[in-house]
Amino acid sequence: MSNHTVSMETIVALAKNRGFVFPGSEMYGGMANSWDYGPLGVELKNNIKRLWWKMFVEERLDMVGLDAALIMSPKVWEASGHLSAGFADPLIECKSCHERIRVDHFLESKGKSWKEEEANLKAVPEAEKDAFVQALFGGCPHCGQKGTFAMPRQFNLMFKTYVGPAEDAASIAYLRPETAQAMFVDFPQILNTSRKRVPFGVAQIGKAFRNEITPGNFIFRQREFEQMEIEYFIHPSIWQEAFEMWLKEMYRFIASCGIDLSRTSNLEVPDLERAHYSKRTVDVEFEYPFGRKELYGLAYRTDFDLSNHAKASGKDIVYTDPITNEKYVPHVVEPSFGVDRTLLAALVSAYDEEKVKDAEGGEDVRVVLRFPAALAPIKIAVLPLSKKDALSSVARPLAERLAKQWRVDYDETQSIGKRYRRQDEIGTPFCVTVDFDSLNDQAVTVRDRDTMKQVRVPLAELEAYVANKLK
Ligand code: GAP
Repeated sequence: MSNHTVSMETIVALAKNRGFVFPGSEMYGGMANSWDYGPLGVELKNNIKRLWWKMFVEERLDMVGLDAALIMSPKVWEASGHLSAGFADPLIECKSCHERIRVDHFLESKGKSWKEEEANLKAVPEAEKDAFVQALFGGCPHCGQKGTFAMPRQFNLMFKTYVGPAEDAASIAYLRPETAQAMFVDFPQILNTSRKRVPFGVAQIGKAFRNEITPGNFIFRQREFEQMEIEYFIHPSIWQEAFEMWLKEMYRFIASCGIDLSRTSNLEVPDLERAHYSKRTVDVEFEYPFGRKELYGLAYRTDFDLSNHAKASGKDIVYTDPITNEKYVPHVVEPSFGVDRTLLAALVSAYDEEKVKDAEGGEDVRVVLRFPAALAPIKIAVLPLSKKDALSSVARPLAERLAKQWRVDYDETQSIGKRYRRQDEIGTPFCVTVDFDSLNDQAVTVRDRDTMKQVRVPLAELEAYVANKLK
């Protein structure tokens, strides 16, 4: 973690130039707001997901995992409320330039609340509604025209598709807008097969899709993104206790990712702003370079989902406590984490610039990503001092040996100083240099990313040395 304040332009440029995140479909001029995770991005993303799974599934006896189908029966989305106005964003369109604007964000930037203004709009007589809307929104930010807005309307965020060859009403399906629903729909099967008892949780990592009106801020708001979600099933009497426990767990994960805690805060989401299923929501926010915005959400979903699925499917989802014999529908506390936002917050927190001496003794700036070891995309870079066969014949087998345990980079071109800088810039904790002395003393130089200190380590002890440092 660093104290350096970094701009969004710097993060986006580094992500592109070093192969963390590229604009999608770039060969064809790009596809607006679609992003591809490059060779380092996919490693970083996998490390985030691996850490999450380890902390919240493997290390907890009260958790099990799930990997469910992405396209579910449309009946799921009817019962969950996602097909109704519950999962829609308010949209307003300029009749002059046809720019579509997300109403709540637009008004928020003017210090107003859409929920309040929506209530005011409802109370205005029909004949005066248009004037009210024009006065409220003012000029269109895109074309500058005034008085051109149509009435605000609700825009459903689900992506629609057809399953099978016929494009008719019977074959309509939706890409899931949250990973959560499968964990509710599969609850009876999970309960029967895992032999878990309430309280216990189900965890899932996977893609979710939302037809966002205004995606943007790099990977912050996308139409295709990845979630890591937990549905924690409880007796309703302990919901506050479970809520507090998961809030603490979320912060434990945030700290493990090296995300700067001083840039995080909690937002108690007010009644009118909460999702349709939630009785209490706390958003964990992060101070991104473009402002303070949601990182994760923690919601008390009550028995909303299980009861609605029971009603809609006609199936019994009543749980019987094996000790008390009490029968009830379990309630749910849901900590929900975005993979992409974790990656963005981790990048912003890790970015550092440091003044160092260059080869001629002048001043230079070193860029370093101070990732915690668990997140670093590459753990060790093996760098033979020169491309000579004598060195590569030792360095390459060494890299292959280390790659059995860690993600390793092997790089033999450019000056050693430039290669160190490249590894600093992608957050590699250790560089291992094979030089001509290595041929005699069977030892290598290990350079630490953060301190830049170098130590000589015997080849035979290298794995033990690195394993100890990476712990
Ligand atoms: N199941 C609850 C749920 O989906 P949410 O607050 O809508 O709640 C949870 O989403 C998390 O998913 C967010 O806190 C954020 O990290 C991530 N997320 C949501 N929409 C996103 C988007 N359009 N792009 C990237 N990440 C998103």
